[in-house]
Amino acid sequence: MFEDYLSWKPFFEIVPMKVEDCVEISELHGQRFPRRWNDGEFQNLLLQGGVFGFAARQTNAFFSQPLGGFVLSREAAGEAEILTVAVGEKFGRQGLGWRLMQAALREASSRGAESMFLEVEAANEAAVRLYGKLGFHTVGERPAYYKAADGTRSSALVMSRVLR
Ligand SMILES: CC(C)(COP(=O)(O)OP(=O)(O)OC[C@H]1O[C@@H](n2cnc3c(N)ncnc32)[C@H](O)[C@@H]1OP(=O)(O)O)[C@@H](O)C(=O)NCCC(=O)NCCS
Repeated sequence: MFEDYLSWKPFFEIVPMKVEDCVEISELHGQRFPRRWNDGEFQNLLLQGGVFGFAARQTNAFFSQPLGGFVLSREAAGEAEILTVAVGEKFGRQGLGWRLMQAALREASSRGAESMFLEVEAANEAAVRLYGKLGFHTVGERPAYYKAADGTRSSALVMSRVLR
C-alpha cells in the first residue's frame, strides 16, 4: 500500500480545448508568461475559424481534473502556427509539452496544413529544445524583438516544420 503511494504519479489525457476551459487556461498562461491573456482573449481566439487547441487534464486526481497544460494553434490556407503553449510548472518535464504539441501537429495536418510555424524567445531553452526535438528548424530571427519589464531586449526565433 505504502509502495503504491510512493509510485503514484499524475496521469493526463490530451483533450480538445473548450470555451469553458478558458478561465483556467488564462490563469495558467499568467503563471508562465509575463503578460497574461485574459479568458475573453482565449475565448475570442478559440471561436475564430481555423483556431483549435488542446488541454492536458489529469485523470487520476481525487476531486477534479486539474489542468496540466494547453496549446492553442491556428490553421489557414495550408499553413499552421502555434499561438501559445504552456505547461504548469509542477507538471514540467513529464512529456506534456511534447504530447500537446503532437496533438496540435496532428490536428493541423488533418486540417490540410503543410507546414507549421512558431515564434519563440531565443533564450527560452526549454521551448527551443522541445521544438527542435519535434523537428522544427530556425528559419528566421528577429533581433531585440521582446522587451522585458526592466527594458532589456531579447531576440525571437521563427521556427518551422513540414507536416507531410
Ligand atoms: C516549454 C514547455 C511548454 C515544455 O513543456 P514540458 O512539458 O516541460 O516539456 P516536455 O516534458 O514535453 O519535454 C520535451 C522536451 O523538451 C525539452 N525540455 C523541456 N523542458 C526543458 C528544460 N527545462 N530544459 C531543457 N530542455 C527542456 C527537452 O528536450 C525535453 O525532452 P527530454 O525530457 O526527453 O529531455 C514548458 O517549459 C513551459 O510551459 N514553459 C513556459 C511557457 C513557454 O515558454 N512556452 C513556449 C513559448 S514559445
